[in-house]
Amino acid sequence: MACTEMYEMENSSDELREEIGNDNKIRLWGKRWFKTVLFTLAMSLLSAVFLLTVIHFATGVQLQQQFDSQGTKLAVLLTQIKCNTKLLSKENISCEDGWELYKKHCYKFVEETETREKAQEKCSEECACLVKIENADENSFIYSAGGLPDTRVIGKLHEVYWTSGIRIKKNNWLWTADGKLVTYDNFNSIEPNNINGIENCISMSNDGTWNDYRCNGTLYYICEKQA
Ligand SMILES: *[C@@H]1O[C@H](CO)[C@@H](O)[C@H](O)[C@H]1NC(C)=O
Ligand SMILES: *[C@@H]1O[C@H](CO)[C@@H](O)[C@H](O)[C@H]1NC(C)=O
Repeated sequence: MACTEMYEMENSSDELREEIGNDNKIRLWGKRWFKTVLFTLAMSLLSAVFLLTVIHFATGVQLQQQFDSQGTKLAVLLTQIKCNTKLLSKENISCEDGWELYKKHCYKFVEETETREKAQEKCSEECACLVKIENADENSFIYSAGGLPDTRVIGKLHEVYWTSGIRIKKNNWLWTADGKLVTYDNFNSIEPNNINGIENCISMSNDGTWNDYRCNGTLYYICEKQA
């Protein structure tokens, strides 16, 4: 019974359709065509916007990752550029206030205690490295120019300053200032003794001799850079 009714309905709609004129057919077809074009355009636009959004975020994330991984390198590079620019723009050999000139190099004696690592960081911020001591003359200059900071224990041998010297093997030392091996040294006669096997950094004592000292100890430090 239900099927018959449907058949009848279809029949009647067929009859209706036959009654529609040619004009109407064209108009309907035109409308449909227009809708299709509009729909296609809208979809294309949406796809484009979606695609651009995806590309935007993907690129953003990628750049962020690149930046994070290159962050340290970039900071180092920027410091180098800053330092080299300063060096290039310098006409006369001289040192900034608070730095001592000796043979075309500037030295800063910093009377604040830091670990060796932190001390090196502080020197870097001023385009310098921890000091490299190349010969007895330079050692004498440093010893006298460094003065006798108040906290030195008078009358007793005592570490005062960090240098850039570090142990690379049992009795092989290297200046981190330029990566060269230590050829001249002024270790105290009882040094280096490497107490507890952790004394891997070179310090200068209040008599101008050197000591191997634990790198996490806190001492004053000397920064050095080209004048
Ligand atoms: C460099 O030194 C000369 C002579 O001492 C001086 O006349 C000149 O002003 C100095 N230049 C700078 C940039 O300090
Ligand atoms: C320094 O390092 C040694 C060995 O790792 C450790 O025993 C000592 O407590 C450290 N000292 C300081 C002041 O951090």
